[in-house]
Amino acid sequence: MKRFYLIVSAVSLFFAVSCGGSDVPVYLDDSKPIEDRVEDALSRMTLEEKIAMLHAQSKFSSPGVPRLGIPEVWCSDGPHGIREEVLWDEWGGAGWTNDYCTAFPALTCLAASWDPSMSAIYGKAIGEEARYRNKTVLLGPGVNIYRTPLNGRNFEYMGEDPYLAGRMVVPYIRNVQEQGVATCLKHFALNNQEYHRHDVNVEVSDRALYEIYLPAFKAGVVEGGTWSVMGSYNLYGGEHCCHNKRLLVDILRGEWGFDGTVISDWGGVSDTRQALDNGLDLEFGTWTDGLARNSGGSDAYNNYYMANPLLELIRSEEGDAAKADIAKVDDKVRNILRMIFRTSMDRTRPYGSFATQEHADVSRRIAENGIVLLKNDNAVLPILPDSVSKILVVGENAARRMTIGGGSSSLKVKYEVLPVEGMRNVYGEDRIVFMKGYSSDSDEKVESLDELRAAAAECDAVVFFGGLNKRGHQDCEGGDRQEYGLPYGQDAVIEALVEANPRTAVVIISGNAVAMPWVDDVPAIVEGWYLGTEAGNALANVISGAVNPSGKLPFTYYAKLEDCGAHAFDEACYPGVASETDERKIYDERYSEDIFVGYRWVDLYNIEPTFPFGHGLSYTTFEYSNLQLDRTTMPVDGKLTVTVDIRNTGSVRGGEVVQLYVGDNESTVERPVRELKAFDKVFLDPGETATVRFELDRTALQYFDAAKHDWQVEPGVFTVYVGSSSRDLREKAEFTVEG
Ligand code: BGC
Repeated sequence: MKRFYLIVSAVSLFFAVSCGGSDVPVYLDDSKPIEDRVEDALSRMTLEEKIAMLHAQSKFSSPGVPRLGIPEVWCSDGPHGIREEVLWDEWGGAGWTNDYCTAFPALTCLAASWDPSMSAIYGKAIGEEARYRNKTVLLGPGVNIYRTPLNGRNFEYMGEDPYLAGRMVVPYIRNVQEQGVATCLKHFALNNQEYHRHDVNVEVSDRALYEIYLPAFKAGVVEGGTWSVMGSYNLYGGEHCCHNKRLLVDILRGEWGFDGTVISDWGGVSDTRQALDNGLDLEFGTWTDGLARNSGGSDAYNNYYMANPLLELIRSEEGDAAKADIAKVDDKVRNILRMIFRTSMDRTRPYGSFATQEHADVSRRIAENGIVLLKNDNAVLPILPDSVSKILVVGENAARRMTIGGGSSSLKVKYEVLPVEGMRNVYGEDRIVFMKGYSSDSDEKVESLDELRAAAAECDAVVFFGGLNKRGHQDCEGGDRQEYGLPYGQDAVIEALVEANPRTAVVIISGNAVAMPWVDDVPAIVEGWYLGTEAGNALANVISGAVNPSGKLPFTYYAKLEDCGAHAFDEACYPGVASETDERKIYDERYSEDIFVGYRWVDLYNIEPTFPFGHGLSYTTFEYSNLQLDRTTMPVDGKLTVTVDIRNTGSVRGGEVVQLYVGDNESTVERPVRELKAFDKVFLDPGETATVRFELDRTALQYFDAAKHDWQVEPGVFTVYVGSSSRDLREKAEFTVEG
C-alpha cells in the first residue's frame, strides 16, 4: 500500500511539473522554503496520521505519512559505523549479506586526534555509509563528558573537556548532514554513567551544567546544526531527560533555538503527559526487551506513550485544553517533517557509498592520528622492521575483534585487521611469535608466566596488547566497569614480560583510563583505543615507525580511582543512593566535584596523574618559543591574538598538538587553575618551524554565574599558557582584561 501511494505521488508530481507546475502541492515542491512545505504537509494530515508520526513502527523506524508519500524515518546506530539491519521487531540481526560496513575508530580515538579535519573526513565517510544504506538518522555522535573512568560508554564519547569535545563534534555533524542524513546528537544530557542508567537522578549545579556538561551539545546544535538530538535515559531534577522541560524546552529549544527532532533513547519514555508537554517528538524503543520495564505484548507500538494513550488523551479533551494539546502535537510533527525534508525528501542529496577502500583508508588515517604514545623511555619504540628478527606479541586483545560488543555500537564489519595480523603485515609472518598470555574466559588455560618469560627472553622485542574488551563491564553499554585495574590478571603478565625482556611495549586497547601499577617498570606504553576496520594496520604502523604518533589524551589517566573528582566523595556522588518513590526506585546522585572534572580536579588539588590530559609523545621532539600577545590589555569584548613558534627539533616528521590554556589569576569565584581554550595540530618536517596563531575572545575568560543565569568576565590579570599537555606547559604570558 505504501509503495502504491509513493508511485501515485511520484506520478502526479511528474504530470503536475510537466503541465506547468501549478498543481504540485507545496510540500512536494522543493523550490519552496522548507517552512512552507512543513505547513502545507501538516495542513493535509489527520490527527491519527500526526500521532502515527510520533512513535516507532519497528525497532528503528517510524512511519512517515504513506498517504502523502512522506517517507518513513529510518534510524541506525552509530556512532562508529552503520549497524547491521535488524529484524522488524527484534534486536537480532536480519541476516542480510549486504550490510557489512566499515568500522571507524571509537569517538575517544577521534577526540584523541585533536584534529577537527579528522572529524570532517570521519563525518563524510560515515555519512556516505549511512546514506547508501538509506538511513534518515545516524544515532550519534555522543558528547557526554567523561566524568569517571568507570563509565561503560566513555569510548563512544569525546573525553573530559567540553571545549575539545565541542570543537571535535561540529565537523562530524556537518559532514554527515551534507550527505543528507541527520545526526542524532546523544545522549542529552548528564548521561555520564551506565550504572542505573534508567534510574539515576542527577543533581548538578547550574554552573557545572553550563560550563562542563552542556557546551559540547550546544556546539553540536548551534554550530554543527544537528537535525536531531537524543534524550538520555537518566533523570535530571526528578524528570526523565527524554521529556525534561528544563533541558528540552528551556535550554535546547529556548536558549539554543533547536528546530529539529528530539528522539527518545530506546525505551526512555515513561509518561504521556510529560512527553507531550516537555519537548519530545519521536518515541522509540518503549516496551521492548530489556530496555524498559514493561514487557512487550501484542501491538506494542500502538501502546507507546506517544501512540494510542496520546490519541485517547486528546480525544478525551475539549475546548482550549484540546486545542493546546493539538498545537503541541502539531509542533512535534513540524519538527519531524523538517527533518524529513532536510534528509530523505531532499532530492539533491548524494547517493552515498559503502564499505569502500576509500572509507577503510579514512578509518586508518583517523586511527593513526588518534593513537597516543604515553611513554617511550630508551626509545623502545619504534621497533624498526630491520632491527628485529623475532617479536613476541602477547595478549588476548592482539587477536580479539573489537568491532563486536559494547552494546548498540557493535558492528558487522566487512573486515577487521587484528593487531597480531597488522604486526604480521608489517614485520612478516615469520618474525611474529604470538602467545595469548591471558584469557577473558576463566576456563581457558593459557601459558604460564614462566613460559611467557622464557619466550620473551628469546625475542628481540615484546609487544603486549591488553586492556579492556567491550564485554559487559569492560567498556560496554548497560553497565559500568567494576574496577579501575586491568582484568584477567594482565598486570602479572606485563610484569613478567618486562622482567624477562626490557624491550617491552604495552598497548592498551580501551576507551577508558586503567590503573597501571607497572608504569615505572614498562619503558613504552601506547593507548591504542578501539580502532575499527584497520585497527591492526594502524597500530603496527605506529609501532614500526611508519607512522609517527601524534594523538593526545582527551582525558586524565588517574593514578588511582580516588584521584578522580567523582570518586573523591561518598556514594551520593557516584554511583548514587537509592530512594524509593511510589512508582520506582531512583538513584539520587549529586555531582559534588562540580565544575572540577578531569584535569580541573587534579590541577586544583595538585594530584599527580599517571598521564595528564592532553599528554602524548612523538618519535620526534618539539620546541616551543616566542609566545607573543598582540596586546597586554584586552577589553572584555575585545580580541587577543596569541602566536607561538613551534619547531621540530628531532629527526623525523611529526605532528604536535599545540594547546592553549587560560587561567584567571585572581577571581572572586572559585575557578579552575586553567582551562583549555584553543588548540591546533601542526605537522612539521625535521628542522621546520611554524607559527601557530590563536584568537581569543571573551569565551576564553568567562564563567557561568548561576544567580544571573549569564556568563561573566571579571576584569583583572589572566595568564595564557601554551604547551604540549595540560601539565607540560612550555610558555606563558599575562594580560589584563579591562572592564
Ligand atoms: C542506546 C542508544 C542507541 C539506541 C538504539 C540505546 O540503548 O542508549 O545510544 O542509539 O539504544 O540502539
